[in-house]
Amino acid sequence: MKSMASISSILLLLLSLSHLHFTLPTGNNHITDRKSLEIIIGGGNSPPSPSPEPGPEPADCPPPPPPPPCPPPLPPPCPPPPSPKPPQSPPPEPPRSPHKPPKSQHKPSHSPPKPHKPLLVFESKLLEKAYPILQAFKNLVEDDPKNVLDSWNGSDICKYRGLECAIFPGTKDLAVASVQFNEFNFAGKKLRLDNFLDKLETVTIFHANSNNFLGSVPDVSNLKYLFELDLSNNKLTGDFPASVLKAKDLTFLDLRFNTFSGSVPPQVFNLDLDVLFINNNNLVQQLPTNLGSITALYLTFANNRFTGPIPDSIGNIKYLQEVLFLNNQLTGCLPYQIGKLNRATVFDVGFNQLTGPIPYSFGCLDKMEQLNLARNKFYGAIPEIVCEISCLKNLSLSYNYFTQVGPKCRQLIKRNILDVRMNCILDLPNQKTSQECADFFMRKQTCPNSKSMFRIPCGKNPNRVRLDQERLEDEEAQVPSPVSYGALNPDRIRNL
Ligand SMILES: *[C@@H]1O[C@H](CO)[C@@H](O)[C@H](O)[C@H]1NC(C)=O
Ligand SMILES: *[C@@H]1O[C@H](CO)[C@@H](O)[C@H](O)[C@H]1NC(C)=O
Repeated sequence: MKSMASISSILLLLLSLSHLHFTLPTGNNHITDRKSLEIIIGGGNSPPSPSPEPGPEPADCPPPPPPPPCPPPLPPPCPPPPSPKPPQSPPPEPPRSPHKPPKSQHKPSHSPPKPHKPLLVFESKLLEKAYPILQAFKNLVEDDPKNVLDSWNGSDICKYRGLECAIFPGTKDLAVASVQFNEFNFAGKKLRLDNFLDKLETVTIFHANSNNFLGSVPDVSNLKYLFELDLSNNKLTGDFPASVLKAKDLTFLDLRFNTFSGSVPPQVFNLDLDVLFINNNNLVQQLPTNLGSITALYLTFANNRFTGPIPDSIGNIKYLQEVLFLNNQLTGCLPYQIGKLNRATVFDVGFNQLTGPIPYSFGCLDKMEQLNLARNKFYGAIPEIVCEISCLKNLSLSYNYFTQVGPKCRQLIKRNILDVRMNCILDLPNQKTSQECADFFMRKQTCPNSKSMFRIPCGKNPNRVRLDQERLEDEEAQVPSPVSYGALNPDRIRNL
C-alpha cells in the first residue's frame, strides 16, 4: 500500500531527530508500525500495557496449529494515547532583551515602564513561524485540567507538552511534526481549530481525541504532510472536512463522536486510508457506489443516517477486516459480493432496514467471528453453510423474519452462538406472532438479482456434510471483543 511509503518517509524524518535514538520496527507492514511510530513521536513513553499482551499480528485464520482456526485478536487500529509525560523542566530563561526604544515619542514620559519582552531565539524559522500560532491557541484554552500548557512558555517549542519536532523534509530545520492532544480535555468558549490546525503546515500527525473543540474544521488544504488526523470525541459540527482530500498521504482519519452533518464526499473513498472512523455523527447520505475503492481495514459508519443499499463494490475491499454499519437506515438486499471479504472478522449491520435472504456467499467468510444482522427485515432459510463457519463466535439474527433453520444452525443455537429470537421459525420459542409474520410476508420485497443469492464465490458446496462435529463441540473459553467495536466508545481504544 502507498501508505507504507509515507510511513517510511516519516520514519526517516524521525530518525533524523537528534535527541531520540530508537530502534524502529521494520519489515512489519501493518498498522502496528504506526503505533510504534507514535510512541516514538510521543517522546518514547511507551504506555504501560494494562492488558494482557497484545495479540500477535493477524495471521491467516488458522494460526497456531491444531485447534481453533480463528485469527488471534488484532492489535488496536489506533494507537493508545501516549501516557502523560512527567512535567518537563521549564525551558531555560531566554536572554533578556535590551530595552526597546520607546514606541511613541508622544507618550508621556512618566508612563510606567512596560516589562520588557524577553527576546525569543528559535532553533529554526519554521519554529519561529509556529510560535505565534501556538501562543494564540494557548490563549483560547480556558480549561486545561492536566496543566499541559504550563510548559508552553518561551522559545523551546519542541519541549512543549503535546508537541514533537522533527527535521522538515528537504531542510535542516526543526519543525512541529506532531500534535498529540489525546485526552487532554482542553476546553474554552472559543476553542476552535481555526487558525490553529490549518496554520500548522508542517504537521504529519494531529491527534486530538477527547477534547472540547467547537465549530467546524477549517480548510486544511495546506497541510500537505498530514497522514493521521484524529478529531474524535470533540464537539465539532458542520460539513465533513472535505479539504482533507488534499492530504494525499492520509492513512488514518478518525472523526467519530462529533456532530458532523451532510455527506461524505465520494472522493474520500479514493484515499489510500487504512482506517476510516466516522461513526456517531449526523451524516446523512446513501452509501456511495464507489465505497469499494477505499483500501481500509476498518470501516465504522455506525450510528449515523446512511441510507440505501450496501454497494456491490464492497466486495473489492480486499483487506477489509471489520465493517460496522449498525444503526443506520440501510435498505435493500445484501450483495453476494460481501462473501469475497475473506479477511473479515466482523460484519455488523444490525438495526437497519435491510431485507432479503442471507446470501450463500456468506459461507465463504471463513474468518468471520461476529456476524450481526439483527433487527432488520431479513427472511428465508438461514443457509446451513453460514452456520458451518468455524470461527463464528456470535451470529445474531434476532428480530428478523427468518423461517427455517437446519441442523448445523441448531447446534449453534444450543451453543449460544446463534440467536434467532423473534423471527418466524414455527417450532422455536420466542418468535414473532403468526399475524406479524403473515403481515410481513404479504408485503415482503424481493431482491433484484435473486439468483446471485445462491452464488458461492469460494467454490464450497452448500450441501456437503462436514465431519467436524467434534471440533464444533470444542468450546472456546475466551471470546475477546473485536477491535473496531472499540470505535463505538468515545474514549481511546485501549486494553487491547
Ligand atoms: C509560563 O508563563 C506563565 C505566565 O507568563 C507563568 O505563570 C508560568 O509559571 C510559566 N511557566 C513556566 C513553566 O515557566
Ligand atoms: C452477540 O452480538 C449481539 C449483536 O452485536 C450482541 O447484542 C450480543 O450481546 C452478542 N452476544 C454475545 C454473547 O456476545
